[in-house]
Amino acid sequence: MDVTNILHMNGGIGKCSYANNSILQHIREEAIIRVYNSIHPRCLSIAELGCSSGPNAFIVVSEIIKIVENLCKEMNHKSPEYKVFMNDLPENDFNNIFKSSSTFEEKLSNEMKSQIGPCYFYAAPTSFYGRIFPNQTLHFIHSSSSLHWLSKVPEGIEKNKGNIYISNTSPLNVLKAYYEQFQKDFSLFLKCRAEELVEQGQMFLTLLGRRSEHQSTKECCYIWELMAKALNDMVLEDEEEDEEEDEDEDRMRT
Ligand SMILES: C[S@@+](CC[C@H](N)C(=O)[O-])C[C@H]1O[C@@H](n2cnc3c(N)ncnc32)[C@H](O)[C@@H]1O
Repeated sequence: MDVTNILHMNGGIGKCSYANNSILQHIREEAIIRVYNSIHPRCLSIAELGCSSGPNAFIVVSEIIKIVENLCKEMNHKSPEYKVFMNDLPENDFNNIFKSSSTFEEKLSNEMKSQIGPCYFYAAPTSFYGRIFPNQTLHFIHSSSSLHWLSKVPEGIEKNKGNIYISNTSPLNVLKAYYEQFQKDFSLFLKCRAEELVEQGQMFLTLLGRRSEHQSTKECCYIWELMAKALNDMVLEDEEEDEEEDEDEDRMRT
């Protein structure tokens, strides 16, 4: 099915319109423009942290490069070179990313109808809860929907029976344990990135949040309650099957 003429973002400027929900893109664009205008790097270093694999890994990187290329055209500057670091945990499917990276430059140049600056891709397979790059190497750091992954399971959550995250049945100490683990992880993340970013560089992070003061609000935790319920049901089913198998075996032995 040809989707070219079917798919589109929600039009207008209403509550559900794309225009009203693309605010993140605008803020990101402003951040990139600020980096380019204040540094004019001949080689722009970008890090995509928690890049995952598949086509999504390149979406923001393409957007950043397009913005810089358009700026260069406006200012009659030669395009810079681009050094792009794709970071994720070591078990991530980096092969999948690097298969597409060889055609990235050509595809984006075709899309922009002009040759973009040379793009060099590198893998950084390590946890972002630690140093990844030498001091002052990056101009722009980006990470989306990744910082809600903690570095480890918080300590002291044994009493969170039947749950896999904070839910409205979680005891208070569980909320505290998750909060403290996030605080530790996020502080370390910021400390490391502060050392890796060049002066006047920019960092753009998006992560899951909630508007309510209640930690177990449906806005952020409900999805994990459903997941926990599904897992509990699967465990129960498995136990029932085991019991049935045991009964069958007993019957065969008698
Ligand atoms: C939900 S995906 C987000 C992917 C992509 N950034 C996006 O917005 O579509 C979260 C990614 O973060 C990665 N991740 C989680 N913890 C990480 C860590 N400590 N260091 C590096 N990557 C991590 C996961 O492996 C996963 O690929």
